[in-house]
Amino acid sequence: MRKILLTSAIFVSAFFCGAAPVLAQSSIEYAQDKKVFLLHAGEQSYAFGVNERGELQSIFWGAQLKSIADIPPAKVGPDVASFDGSTTTTPQEYPGWGSVLYTEPAIKATFEDGNRDLVLHYVSHKIEGDELTVELKDISLPFVVQLHYRVYPEQGIIARWSVIENLGTKFVNLEDAASAAWTLPHGEGYEAHWLTGHWAAEWQQQSAALVPGSIVIESRRGSTSHQANPWFEIDRPHETTEESGPAWFGELGWSGSWRISFDTSAMQQTRITGGYNTFDFAYKLSGGQSLKTPIFYAGYTSKGRGEVSRLLAHFQQAEIFPGGDKAKLRPVLYNSWEATEFNVDEAGQIALAEKAASIGAERFVIDDGWFGQRKVDNAGLGDWYVNQQKFPHGLKPVIDRVHSLGMDFGIWVEPEMVNPDSDLYRKHPEWAMNFPGRPRTEERNQLLLNLARKDVADYVYSFLDKLVSENDIAFLKWDYNRNWAEPGWDAVPVDEQKKIYVAYVDNLYDILSRLRAKHPKLEIESCSGGGGRVDLGILRYTDEVWPSDNTDALDRLVLQDGFTRAYSSGAMMAWVTDVPNFLDNRTVPLKFRYLVAMNGSLGIGGNLNHWTDAEMQESKTLVAYYKSIRQTVQRGDLYRLMTPEENSASSTEYVSRDGSQAVVFAYLHSQRYGTPYPTLHLRGLQPDARYRIKTIDDKLKLSSETVSGDYLMHEGLTFNLTGDYDSTSITLERVP
Ligand code: DGJ
Repeated sequence: MRKILLTSAIFVSAFFCGAAPVLAQSSIEYAQDKKVFLLHAGEQSYAFGVNERGELQSIFWGAQLKSIADIPPAKVGPDVASFDGSTTTTPQEYPGWGSVLYTEPAIKATFEDGNRDLVLHYVSHKIEGDELTVELKDISLPFVVQLHYRVYPEQGIIARWSVIENLGTKFVNLEDAASAAWTLPHGEGYEAHWLTGHWAAEWQQQSAALVPGSIVIESRRGSTSHQANPWFEIDRPHETTEESGPAWFGELGWSGSWRISFDTSAMQQTRITGGYNTFDFAYKLSGGQSLKTPIFYAGYTSKGRGEVSRLLAHFQQAEIFPGGDKAKLRPVLYNSWEATEFNVDEAGQIALAEKAASIGAERFVIDDGWFGQRKVDNAGLGDWYVNQQKFPHGLKPVIDRVHSLGMDFGIWVEPEMVNPDSDLYRKHPEWAMNFPGRPRTEERNQLLLNLARKDVADYVYSFLDKLVSENDIAFLKWDYNRNWAEPGWDAVPVDEQKKIYVAYVDNLYDILSRLRAKHPKLEIESCSGGGGRVDLGILRYTDEVWPSDNTDALDRLVLQDGFTRAYSSGAMMAWVTDVPNFLDNRTVPLKFRYLVAMNGSLGIGGNLNHWTDAEMQESKTLVAYYKSIRQTVQRGDLYRLMTPEENSASSTEYVSRDGSQAVVFAYLHSQRYGTPYPTLHLRGLQPDARYRIKTIDDKLKLSSETVSGDYLMHEGLTFNLTGDYDSTSITLERVP
């Protein structure tokens, strides 16, 4: 690991003259003579400098550069005829909209006197450990931006965000405030990849060549959204494969409206700008006020698309998820939603809990329907008391029984919502997000509580705290079943009301963080009608996410492949549910459903009352198998041996971080023409090590007890999978 040499905070004046102090072997180097910064994170180097005009300008982003001596100083771009001024052709690190800027700005502001010209120049910088802060200031106004760079040397990630501060006495209205702009090496031939979707069809992978013009992915919905996820990867399709070639990637940590744009100029300069969505955005800074933008994480690898997902998964496990590397593994969970929907009651839940425990579940979760006057989705949200008809003795008898069965207990909540048919709404109609006097559009019969309001945020925190304090609850499934509409906030002055986009999410994070601090053992799942709120912002406070309401195993293969491009499989809750599937009527064998769900954090969501003895027995065996491999699946390296999008068969492999175990899953979706199952060439093994293979069925014939890594990777394995929805899994244990 690289070590930083400068341990104390120092500000270096832009006008300081003297010998260049080059900080060799640190994660952040600065060459003062040419005013160049060089950041090292894993395989990634990132360089920028102060140009002749005093702007901070991007120089390099890509493979590791060992010596800062090789990097030229930043040089402003040329004026191209009289139409593309130098400000436009210079790739600034954080361009203000001002001077001759036609490219995407990182920040745009209107000052109190009507001035809208903002030109940011370097003032100073500070290096503290793995963090660099560069201060920029407008050329004449008391308006500064601090650009933060946090380097994660071991994970290969650089995090960037900005803090925008009005040092004057007059107000400034921000209309755009990005987290960062990233500049790709100059040239053509790039392809961008991103994720889109809708309810029950999240995580669809999209790709397009980056040609002059722009591609924008965004959410204007107040939360992350099913429709697009704030993740991207860019590569060179002629060079980059799943396992080799250059790839640049990034991910935003924000659970509100967001935007990432990929802008390629006619002169083949591609830049990626991301942060708060500029749509309907306005943030007024009075004198002395500041705004911090979300964190934009990014990285580079020369090892292909698969390595992007592995780097992100490791980074998330170490630095984002609560508990980091020390977090305990995800338990096998049972959730009653698809079995009972809103029809939950004491006897029914206890009966399911007993069955769930008998097949090996470790956590039992009551989903929607247990509170207020909730019978269907048109009432009760906001009234977080236990429904007396369904649970006449409160939750205690169920919780006690769950505990006596050796499981812990979890419960569903949807804290940010209110049904108009609720005591809360009757008491506080003003708490709903809306514009006074205008319609309040309901979705799923519910409205949003305006969490930007302090009284609402206090209420939400206190009912959750009470619920968790009064009941032995280990886990909350935190749902969020609609997006914003009519986002009014009339409790603050008109020119402050658009701050709702920031204040709402800040308060959400604050509630989650306070709750976790007070109840350190509590775990939380982020759910939003499936995968509508999955991002590196919410994942700082939640242990797992529900990626989709689509639990059909065949669809899940594709959704999971998309999900794991951006997020660790360990955070992905995946249930085995009943067939025919409620969504598409498809019937898939139980074993196939289990082996698909085992690619994440395994859950069971079927109605166990209807499962046969044989199915319960098979479940018991498969749940036990999952427990023997979950460390590898949840924390290991994922290799996509065959992706489900392009093939009628697919296969995933996970290798534990210490290399001692590997797990292979193989699926035949549908067999055509009697074609044999493709030979699988494993990856990520030690060529000279020997592995003992354990099978769960008779789909693989072995001629010897142990096999070398070499053989497994080059000769490969041939499984005898036949017919539709055949599947298998094997485990490889490295022989010591
Ligand atoms: C949407 C979630 O995604 C489902 O799993 C379930 O919890 C329902 N909401 C309950 O209303």
